[in-house]
Amino acid sequence: MKTKIIIDTDPGVDDALAIVMAFNSPELEVLGLTTVFGNVSVEQAATNALSLVELSGVDVPVYKGEAVPVSRTPAPYADFVHGDDGFGNINWPAPKGKLQDQDAVSFIIEQVRKYPGEVTLIPLGPLTNIARALEQAPDIAEKVKEVVLMGGATYVPGNVTPVAEANIIGDPHAADKVMTAKWPLVMIGLDVTSKVLLTHEAMDRIAGSNTEQCKFLKKASDFYIEFYRQTVGISGCMVHDPSCIAYVLDPSLFKTQSGRLRVVTEGITMGQTTFAPGTRKYAYPGWEDLPMQKVCLEVDGDRLLAMLEKRLTTPLH
Ligand code: RIB
Ligand code: CA
Repeated sequence: MKTKIIIDTDPGVDDALAIVMAFNSPELEVLGLTTVFGNVSVEQAATNALSLVELSGVDVPVYKGEAVPVSRTPAPYADFVHGDDGFGNINWPAPKGKLQDQDAVSFIIEQVRKYPGEVTLIPLGPLTNIARALEQAPDIAEKVKEVVLMGGATYVPGNVTPVAEANIIGDPHAADKVMTAKWPLVMIGLDVTSKVLLTHEAMDRIAGSNTEQCKFLKKASDFYIEFYRQTVGISGCMVHDPSCIAYVLDPSLFKTQSGRLRVVTEGITMGQTTFAPGTRKYAYPGWEDLPMQKVCLEVDGDRLLAMLEKRLTTPLH
């Protein structure tokens, strides 16, 4: 039986890589794409999600989600990383497809209740939609199969402050609510995603497959790869979001540790994910009665990249 997934996304170039990878994976049934602000506005994210559906020739509904964080003042969009349009400023034509009338949050709630124990939520942006769904329907916590999210940094620096990763600081209050909910959660953060680099050469090989999807991904990733060359001094880009799809397809690619997670919601370390390994008790409050979640700390990068390249270059439609 296929694994039912909902991808919550702020496309975004690495989101696009993840979404195409998911569309090209016969093991997965993508129930829908729900969109959220982050790399771009939620309107642009929704347009980009529609473009990815059209490009891939799949019948997957797209839902517009939350436009702003639950309580912090909105952060600027990451247009310096993904371009103003979220696709590297390639002036991709507007998609013909239309958004669903239903909003993202009610879609998530509806699907998790319709398929209890079967739906894996894969958040690839700020966690606002997921937190709103939990708020409106606390019962989904025991109905979700698993939450596999891209975000956070445990034992490595952040990428937007010395301690904070972009998706988490995008909505730290939502992130703390999601990380402390009583559902099975896997955090795929910078500890692993910053160690998996998709090189220029690999991107050229992928483009060489000459599929519509890969020609698009090559065009859209040039700006993103240039950002990494200029800021991090590498020739390639970090494979953040596709790592979540890879985890759902083959968790053995990762080594995880169990423990409790909290997120700092204000001050100079806002957006920091704090991990308490195991069940150790602490003198200070805030760590009692928290669920044990999984944090990915190691990854077989070569196997992940091989899976990514294979999936991207083998469209199903
Ligand atoms: O920190 C990387 C994450 O933030 C990725 O999901 C990227 O797409 C941005 O959303
Ligand atoms: Ca993303």
